[in-house]
Amino acid sequence: MTILFFTATGNSLSVAKTIGGKLISIPRLLHDNSGDIHIADDEGVGIVFPVYFGNLPNHVRLLLGRVRISAPYKFAILTYGELAGRATSHLVRTAREAGIEFNYVRTIKMVDNNFSIVNVEKQVRTQGRKHIAEHMAGISEEVRQRCSLIERPNIIDRIVGFVEERMPAEDAPRRFSVEPDKCMGCGTCTRVCPNGNLRLIDGKPSWGENCLKCTACYHNCPHGAIRYKGEKSRYTFRNDAVSLGDIIYANSNV
Ligand SMILES: Cc1cc2nc3c(=O)[nH]c(=O)nc-3n(C[C@H](O)[C@H](O)[C@H](O)COP(=O)(O)O)c2cc1C
Repeated sequence: MTILFFTATGNSLSVAKTIGGKLISIPRLLHDNSGDIHIADDEGVGIVFPVYFGNLPNHVRLLLGRVRISAPYKFAILTYGELAGRATSHLVRTAREAGIEFNYVRTIKMVDNNFSIVNVEKQVRTQGRKHIAEHMAGISEEVRQRCSLIERPNIIDRIVGFVEERMPAEDAPRRFSVEPDKCMGCGTCTRVCPNGNLRLIDGKPSWGENCLKCTACYHNCPHGAIRYKGEKSRYTFRNDAVSLGDIIYANSNV
């Protein structure tokens, strides 16, 4: 089994780890290959990634535009925090346009990391209500049994998705700041960004214009030194099954 993943705070990587197999970071894959990418696996190939604004992260769109998958079983799992909107429909349509037909597409509700919309501290405190481990075990078993199932958005998701997709883009680079007494200038933020959008200037992070708002820099700062204007809590989250090293390996050198 080969699983391609995109992650900022580890939820999607934890799902990929639970299913198991050869795990490949999508930012790395896009960076290390010029032109078309061919992934072949006799057991199956999966894609795991977070929902962004009821839709697909840009890295996944870029991947679908360049990848050719040769496998008898193709699956996708979308992690999300509150409402996945129409993301599964967007995925199925975009993949189909790229000549990829999934056998299995499912969502899994996990901790929402989007600090500009939700209180992440409350998300972590109340995550038990989402029964994440049980749902993950169910999905993992369905994939193991090569189930065929395409999850479609329900009426609420369709309405919410319509709104989520039209959320005004925030001027993210200018909303970030660092607490000078907490920032050690370690540069971790520059290494977890999947877009290579941060660099250290005079020992402090500086954000370029290429921000995805993925939250990786904020949540993976070892000192909790990064602030965001409008953040709903001051709390950093990374999935327990995933280390800082995992995120650095997945997203650095891009
Ligand atoms: C920019 C951004 C947009 C998001 N949009 C949605 C959304 O539309 N619906 C939702 O339920 N969760 C949304 N989330 C939450 C993530 O999808 C969720 O926390 C995901 O599991 C994070 O995966 P990761 O830890 O692998 O990065 C968003 C998060 C970010 C950073």
